[in-house]
Amino acid sequence: MASVCNSSTTLNTPFTSSTMSFSLASTPKPSQLFLRGKRNQTFKVSCKISSNDDQNVEINSVDRRNVLLGLGGLYGVANAIPLAASATPVPAPDLTTCSKSKINRDEEVPYLCCAPKPDDMSKVPYYKFPSVTKLRIRQPAHAADEEYIAKYSLAIRKMKDLDKTEPSNPIGFKQQANIHCAYCNGAYKIDGKELQVHNSWLFFPFHRWYLYFYERILGSLIDDPTFALPYWNWDHPKGMRFPPMFDRQGTALYDERRNQQIHNGTVLDLGSFGDKVQTTQLQLMANNLTLMYRQMVTNAPCPLLFFGAPYVLGNNVEAPGTIEIIPHGPVHVWTGTAAGSTLPGGGRSHGEDMGNFYSAGLDPVFYCHHSNVDRMWSEWKSIGGKRTDLTQKDWLNSEFFFYDENKNPFRVKVRDCLDTKKMGYDYAPMPTPWRNFKPKRKTTDGKVNIGSLPPASKVFPLTKLDKPISFSINRPASSRTQQAKNEQEEMLTLFNIKFDNRQHIRFDVFLNVDKNVNADELDKTEFAGSYTSLPHVHGPNQTNHIATVVFQLAITELLEDIGLEDENTIAVTLVPRKGGEGISIGGVEINLASC
Ligand code: C2O
Repeated sequence: MASVCNSSTTLNTPFTSSTMSFSLASTPKPSQLFLRGKRNQTFKVSCKISSNDDQNVEINSVDRRNVLLGLGGLYGVANAIPLAASATPVPAPDLTTCSKSKINRDEEVPYLCCAPKPDDMSKVPYYKFPSVTKLRIRQPAHAADEEYIAKYSLAIRKMKDLDKTEPSNPIGFKQQANIHCAYCNGAYKIDGKELQVHNSWLFFPFHRWYLYFYERILGSLIDDPTFALPYWNWDHPKGMRFPPMFDRQGTALYDERRNQQIHNGTVLDLGSFGDKVQTTQLQLMANNLTLMYRQMVTNAPCPLLFFGAPYVLGNNVEAPGTIEIIPHGPVHVWTGTAAGSTLPGGGRSHGEDMGNFYSAGLDPVFYCHHSNVDRMWSEWKSIGGKRTDLTQKDWLNSEFFFYDENKNPFRVKVRDCLDTKKMGYDYAPMPTPWRNFKPKRKTTDGKVNIGSLPPASKVFPLTKLDKPISFSINRPASSRTQQAKNEQEEMLTLFNIKFDNRQHIRFDVFLNVDKNVNADELDKTEFAGSYTSLPHVHGPNQTNHIATVVFQLAITELLEDIGLEDENTIAVTLVPRKGGEGISIGGVEINLASC
């Protein structure tokens, strides 16, 4: 029915050659783009924070974030962010208090997602890595051969069989999927607060550990200690379609609760939010590479922007990292059934399976998608500059709980998952064309007439983003020297963004465009980035479902590329793409942050 693509179109793009030459973008030397001096992170901004029981606690652990968010200069921004209620690392969830998960405020997941309880929660040991004799090498899914596909399907089949023979076996398919449901849809509470592993710095490490055990379980079910998951190579044009191995009806890798658009080689939209972009496949691929460049390079020059803000219990402010926002979320939504449609087995869709966190793990492609998300973590670090793992103890000492392939329960720490080789796996290399996909300027008619735009102070607070809006905004400094730029990143920060977190949300940000901006073409310097949000549940005491979000874009490089470095005032345009009527934005600032 909704086949959105003509499968017979042969795409003759510059991407198809194996030498990867690109005519769509200039190809500056990566070293020119990425090399920035390493600096020591020594910020100590302590702050009084108010905890739930109204005790004032002084903490240092959120200092870098406060610096990021503008504390110490930009009180407008800082005041918009309720500070942390606790500064301890997140402990592994206590399974004895696990309860039902929620699909949304009104609906509960009709089954319990809690992991089987170990005999004595307090005796669950810390995990120790078994010795590694041979690395498991994760391969790109689109290039998998029949032998691999057969092995992989067999392993998943065996996992699925356990659902019937031993439904409470923690290594069964449904039990494994339920791990995601429990960690993401409110089943676990810590200190009475709902645990959520998305929209913060827990995102990368949680999913890395999750896949680590999943991969070992699959390998042990087929007696192959070198078995490795495939990765959905969506950052490369060859992988920008649904991986065919998962689309074979009747196999264990198939899931009928997917969107029809995944068939027929439709090109994936990495910024997709359910609505199909009316453009060519070639343009979509160019958009995708631009999004990758933005999320990996321009918008993630330093750890907190890449990993996401600290997760502190009871803090309701969400600031996910760049890759979590895009393409992680959109690939989920693109793959799952359209929310509101009728599910294959009857019933109304909430995006199942991939488009909702409670059910995402029920689609085998989930682990393939996350394998590439995980690969981006390694790729990002290899870019260099300040792109290193976080060093905050609250992150390093955060813990999760998993069962291993022998059904033994373990606690794991974030600090132990920073090196994939130590964990026994690595990624088969693929070219990363987005690294050289620095967008070019598209505006031909010179600068936007800043004087004709309302200043930010007249536009914010914005009660709804129901149409594109342009405004002018002052910069804290102009004509900055290279050294100043190395030391401080210029950030465009939108704060107090509020929307109903049960909705799909997306809006795009452009610099220096007029209102005739074509938002379907993202491969231009002026495109600064996008914000997206998947429907999710957050916060146990929420009386409404309003998410409060901070969205930051690193714009130093963009300003150079557009030729705005010497301007005191620049033009910003926000373009709603999904759910704009329900988005309000408290304010906007440009600040300099030592990130
Ligand atoms: Cu835990 Cu892709 O989500």
